[in-house]
Amino acid sequence: MKRMMRVGLLIGVVFVLALMAACNGGGSAASEGKKDDKKIVIGFSQIGAESGWRTAETKSIKEMGKNDPEIELKFSDAQQKQSNQIKAIRSFIAQKVDVIALAPVVETGWEKVLREAKRAKIPVVLLDRRIKVDDDSLYTTFIGSDFIEEGKNAAKYLANLIGPDKKVNIVELQGTVGASAMIERQKGFAEQLKKYPGYKIKKSETADFTRSKGKEVMEAFLKADGKNIDAVFAHNDDMAMGAIQAIEEYGLKSGKDIKIVSVDGIKDAFQAIKDGKSNITVECNPLLGPQLAQVAKELRDGKKVDKWIKSKEDVYEGQKAIDALPDRKY
Ligand code: AHR
Repeated sequence: MKRMMRVGLLIGVVFVLALMAACNGGGSAASEGKKDDKKIVIGFSQIGAESGWRTAETKSIKEMGKNDPEIELKFSDAQQKQSNQIKAIRSFIAQKVDVIALAPVVETGWEKVLREAKRAKIPVVLLDRRIKVDDDSLYTTFIGSDFIEEGKNAAKYLANLIGPDKKVNIVELQGTVGASAMIERQKGFAEQLKKYPGYKIKKSETADFTRSKGKEVMEAFLKADGKNIDAVFAHNDDMAMGAIQAIEEYGLKSGKDIKIVSVDGIKDAFQAIKDGKSNITVECNPLLGPQLAQVAKELRDGKKVDKWIKSKEDVYEGQKAIDALPDRKY
């Protein structure tokens, strides 16, 4: 009887010890394992592929999704349509992603779908372009540039190049109508121009941020009044590249007869400056993948993030552009 009691006691002790070991070791391993395995799922709605800048942004985000072991990326290309972006956001909500990243094609019309994301408790990170909403809590943060400053810099550097007291007829190639990049660059440029009374914007039309439309619109400007155009302000480098082609085909020397200033800082713009066909490019950083990953991790860890994570940028012209060309990343 005594022996049976001792054996019973021993089995009990072994059982309790085994249970404790399972709870301690097994339990933490399981939860740690779970934490390690659980990737942060980011659903990214991209605008499309209208420019070299946009392609560089897509590449940066996709590389982040591929190389960062903590991130899983779901990518959706909206082909320039807001309705496609709204569909993509709804699909991300249905898939219960952890973060929605949105590069909004236009500024307005986002309230309804972003309220749905808010109700689902999914943070929305705006990438590169802003939105206009009456309730700022509909997005968590904006990662991107100061477009107004870019427009101001374009005017400032142009005036420095030609001379602030000169009479200068400018034509403007606008980006996509309703996009914050278009609205704010236009605003900043016009604001800065007030300092140079001889500088006038003679014509301003959209060319949708594309090279082909940049060429088309510039051809029309040249046809209408080619002899009286002194400078082009293009809201992005791709449109400027199209304009350069139109100017050369028209028989004028781009960069000399007609000065060129544009925004983005893609390699082609640096090459055009080197070739003497363009004059100034105002940098706008598309390599936002690493910042998006960092924000997603901070949100996972319950940290507070700034409402605007501002890109650091520069302006390039002349020798500075030529020297920087070999190391350009996009
Ligand atoms: O939103 C950024 C702008 O969009 C870039 O300047 C332009 O090239 C792109 O298409």
